[in-house]
Order: sequence, then C-alpha cells, then structure tokens
Amino acid sequence: MSEAENKMEKIISLCKRRGFVFPGSEIYGGLANSWDYGPLGVELKNNIKNEWWKIFVQQRSDVVGLDAALIMNPKVWEASGHLKGFTDPLVECKKCHGRFRTDQIDIEAACAKCGAEADFTDTKQFNMMFKTNLGPAADSASEVYLRPETAQAMFVDFKLIAETTRKRLPFGIAQIGRSFRNEITPGNFIFRTREFEMMEIEYFVKEADWKNNFEMWRSEMEKWLRHLGVDLANIHFEEVEEKDRAHYSSRTIDIEYDFPFGQDELYGLAYRSDFDLKNHMENSNQDLSYTDPDSGEKVIPHVIEPTWGVDRSMLVALLEAYQEEVAPSADGTEEQRVVLKFPKWLAPIKIAVLPLSKKENLAAVAKPLYEQLTKRFACEYDETQSIGKRYRRQDEIGTPYAVTVDFDTLEDEAVTVRDRDTMKQERIKIDELENYLEERLK
Ligand code: GAP
Repeated sequence: MSEAENKMEKIISLCKRRGFVFPGSEIYGGLANSWDYGPLGVELKNNIKNEWWKIFVQQRSDVVGLDAALIMNPKVWEASGHLKGFTDPLVECKKCHGRFRTDQIDIEAACAKCGAEADFTDTKQFNMMFKTNLGPAADSASEVYLRPETAQAMFVDFKLIAETTRKRLPFGIAQIGRSFRNEITPGNFIFRTREFEMMEIEYFVKEADWKNNFEMWRSEMEKWLRHLGVDLANIHFEEVEEKDRAHYSSRTIDIEYDFPFGQDELYGLAYRSDFDLKNHMENSNQDLSYTDPDSGEKVIPHVIEPTWGVDRSMLVALLEAYQEEVAPSADGTEEQRVVLKFPKWLAPIKIAVLPLSKKENLAAVAKPLYEQLTKRFACEYDETQSIGKRYRRQDEIGTPYAVTVDFDTLEDEAVTVRDRDTMKQERIKIDELENYLEERLK
C-alpha cells in the first residue's frame, strides 16, 4: 500500500472511530458504497454548507437562494437532455458479469474483477437517473426521477425568481441539495456515491459577458479552495475536451485534486450557454426570456455554472487537515499525535471544556462555564480519562481550543487554554475567556 493509500485508510478509520462517517446500514451487512454522516460528520458538513451559503448567497447582492422540490415533473428531464444524454458507457464481463465504465478500463485487458481474459459485451449507454413512481400506481404514467443535479430547478424557476427579486443580469441562483446518480462504479469512500450533496450556482449573464464571468467564477472557486484549507499545489484546473464534456456544456473546466487514489474531479465550472433555458422554453411553451429594463432588449440569458460537491469538499478538507506529529506526552517522553488542522471555521467542535478530574468542586466551575460557552460556540464537555488522552482525542477531531479547569482555578479564577496547532498553553481569567476565544475563532 502506498503512503497516500495508507493515509486514506487511516482517515476512513478515524472517521468511523470518532463518529464522522459510518458505513451505511452496517448492522445488516451494509449497503455497497453508502455512508452515514455521524455526529461530527454532520457538523463538519453543515459548516461547509453554511459557510458556502454565507459567502456565495448572503454576502453577495447578485446571488439569491432556492430550495426546490427534489422530484420534478419528468418533462424537465426530457427537456434538459438528461433522459437521452445523462449516460455512462457500460460493458459487462461475459464471465463474472462485473460491470465497468468503458472510459475507466482497458477493454483489451483482462477483467479487473475475475481476472478472465478480456471478453466483454458491446458498449451500452447506461442512463444514470434513478426511476421511481409517484403515487400508488406503478405504471409508466406515474414514472418520475430522482434529480441527478440540482441545476434544473434553477432554470425552471428562473422567470419566477427574476420577477420576484427584480434582479438584473448578471445574477445567480444558488441551491444546496441532494442528488442521485446510479453510478456504475461508485467507490473511494465518499468520493463517488449514488446519493450525494451539491452546492451549485446558475449565474445568468448576457451572451457577450460569458467569458469574463467564467473567469470571475474560476477565481471565486480558487478563493474558496484556499478558505477550505486546501494547498493549491494539489489542485489542477483541467480544460475538458469537447468529446468529454457533459451534453449541455460549451466549455468546462474540471477542478481536480490529487486524491490518494489519483488525480480526479473535485469541482466543475461549466459554460452552459442558453442550452437549458432555450430547451425549457421550447418544451414548456413558456417565455423564459429576460427583458433589460433600461434598453428594452429581450434576451435568453446564458449561464455560467460553478458546482461544488459537498462530500468531496469534506473528503478534501479531511485529507488536507490530517497530520501525524511527534509531541511531548504527559510523562515527559514523546508520542505520536494525530491532529486534524482544520481552518477554525470548519472545525466541528470549537472548544472542549475539560475539568482536570471528576471532582465535584471542579465540575461546579466547569459545567457552568461549558453552559455559558456553548451558547455561542460548538462545545464539548469531557471529564473522562487522563487529560493527555482527552487532548489527543480533541486533536483527532480538530478542536482548536481546549479549556482546562484545574485546582488552581478555584483560587485564581483562571483556566488553561490549549491551542490545537501550537500546543501552547495560556492562563486566562474566566472573566476574559469568552472575548479571548471570540477573537481567535473569528
Ligand atoms: N450541474 C452540474 C453537475 O451536476 P457534475 O460535475 O456532474 O456537474 C457536480 O457534478 C459535482 O458533484 C462534482 O464536481 C462533484 O464534486 C460532485 N459529484 C458528482 N458525482 C458525484 C458522486 N457520484 N458522488 C459524490 N459527488 C459527486
């Protein structure tokens, strides 16, 4: 196993051990490639989504939000081209019936699953949309699809949103939500799953302005990566050739990351032209054009679409934050510590309140302190095991500050604040603690 693969295994194990991510339906033997986000995982994921929403919706006057129904009228998927074009090329090994994506294997080589000499079926186009039925009758008239991308609702609701918000071009609609794809080859932990979350913006522009807005979003995506704590040396902006682009795209840049299993897509940036609005206009017979209030000019807006995967963001945040270090232990020797050096805004728990022992006189100070801090920050109270072990546990889940209440606290009304990254400890008066932490967690 390479060092990178080993790191991935360690992260998967840490995620299970500490409650970030568990295998789905585990008591029933699991369900292939399904994962459940545990107590810390859901906090981490929510921090990503909330920060994204704050930066790209609340702090921008040119982007508004949407939370649309997940199951849409099936005509949407006909108009968008997904019924015809949202496919992956599929082959099957004639011996073991293992299924593969033609673009991911060498069909001249032996089967990667059973090792038999290459003998595959002809390539079939496999549609990745999940089908289900609306209501009790399971007939073709009730067939609907689970959305494979959040984008379509932003096109379908474009007119309503433009009218109700009175936004002028250029402006964007943003949405965070779950999408479903019946992937042929899911895998690599939470990298490729059959249900996942996306954060997407459809940014509507005049055709003449698409290039500068494409560049604007490229630079915004780069800024976001830095904010997430990603070293840009691990990122590659790859221009996607026409033959490899999604059916709706006139230009795509894949933002790829050096994952332990190889360089692969983290985010995408596409120029969807007027493809979607035009198709929805034709199929719905509704006018989805935009009239410039000043010039009276009527246009079908063109669209720049930056897309972020939530689960892949979380995987990359974990990979970038994970460090193994040698640190002094409580008995003066050295030991290894595992630490998740998340940017502070991202850490699922910001402050751990740790009474030195379970003695009641310490709890009498530590508990009210915890109650006070937890009103403003995500906090954890932990009084079990040695203080050294508790520090290690907080390091492993990425908690930036540990506040220790000890016997001196009863005399000097001060606590020890330990910094996750430097491991330096500072004595702070309880009166000043909230401001001290507030300053550092900004
Ligand atoms: N509306 C554009 C769109 O759907 P995409 O590149 O197909 O574009 C967007 O998907 C993002 O969703 C990807 O960049 C990736 O981060 C994430 N993503 C796609 N398929 C995924 C899967 N099977 N599992 C987890 N994340 C996935």
